[in-house]
Amino acid sequence: MHTYVLNDGNSIPAVGFGVFEVPADGTTYQAVRRALDAGYRHIDTAAAYNNEAEVGRAIRDSGIPREDIFVTSKLWIQDYGLKKAGLAIRLSLAKLGLDYLDLYLLHQPYFDVQGSWLALEKARDEGLVRSLGVSNFTARLWQEHIPRFATVPCLNQVEFHPFFQQRDLRPLLEAQGVLLAAWSPLGHGMRELLTHPLICDMAARYHREPAQIILRFELQEGCVVLPKSTNPAHMASNLALFDFGLNDRDMEALRSLDTNHGTRDPEEPGRAEYLLAKYHVRSLA
Ligand SMILES: NC(=O)c1ccc[n+]([C@@H]2O[C@H](COP(=O)([O-])OP(=O)(O)OC[C@H]3O[C@@H](n4cnc5c(N)ncnc54)[C@H](OP(=O)(O)O)[C@@H]3O)[C@@H](O)[C@H]2O)c1
Repeated sequence: MHTYVLNDGNSIPAVGFGVFEVPADGTTYQAVRRALDAGYRHIDTAAAYNNEAEVGRAIRDSGIPREDIFVTSKLWIQDYGLKKAGLAIRLSLAKLGLDYLDLYLLHQPYFDVQGSWLALEKARDEGLVRSLGVSNFTARLWQEHIPRFATVPCLNQVEFHPFFQQRDLRPLLEAQGVLLAAWSPLGHGMRELLTHPLICDMAARYHREPAQIILRFELQEGCVVLPKSTNPAHMASNLALFDFGLNDRDMEALRSLDTNHGTRDPEEPGRAEYLLAKYHVRSLA
């Protein structure tokens, strides 16, 4: 598996398996077991997905050594603030049944961002978390918050796919050696993306699936990709990205699909309150 080196010296597998909206009724367990069997070694979950316990059980039951699997989770906004965040990190670890997380992110750029980041730094210093990052920080929010952090995040997980290529944000991240991790790398399964004529034409020319063209584009742009699938055939093909490459002309053509708009705008008024009301992290069952 191809890896990137983070700005703190740790490594991260370039392809991760995302479990957003995968139900915790056995489906997450089965999906993560299948993903690990298919060769994934990077799992992306979050406290707000309420499926950490199944992720952890699948990891343990896989028999794969813990150090061979990169596990990310994220702090939900109901737990922001120095004290609450410290407890929330421990709750995530308890649900996962793990001693440490490879990567832990501030899931959203709202409320007490500074106090929460201090809690993440403390957890890293205590050995509970190896690397620290953020998520959904736009260029403006990055410039507002990051200069006040003692530790520069190693990664910003944001929406990224050919229709939204984060042109404002990427130079800021590159300047500080910060990786971009692409959420919804397949546009959340958006039909217009997966059936776009340009992408389908490339898929035919490279003898690949449209999804593989999209993910390969994102990798060549230097992103970590986090495709989600509960379909075993898709899981396998979303990982088979390292035995071909897109040429410069095709990369340029894919860059031209950018619309400069995502499906969700973190700066939209009321977004923080909407998210706080929508997702609630449950306590340990
Ligand atoms: N930090 C954040 O705020 C945030 C927000 C959203 C997502 N994320 C992360 O990013 C991950 C992925 O994002 P996402 O779940 O929105 O969507 P995604 O990976 O862009 O798309 C998932 C959809 O694409 C379909 N799909 C997957 N592989 C395919 C293939 N090879 N061919 C055709 N269709 C395919 C899936 O259906 P099948 O199951 O049928 O394959 C599913 O409907 C999440 O699980 C989560 O870990 C983070």
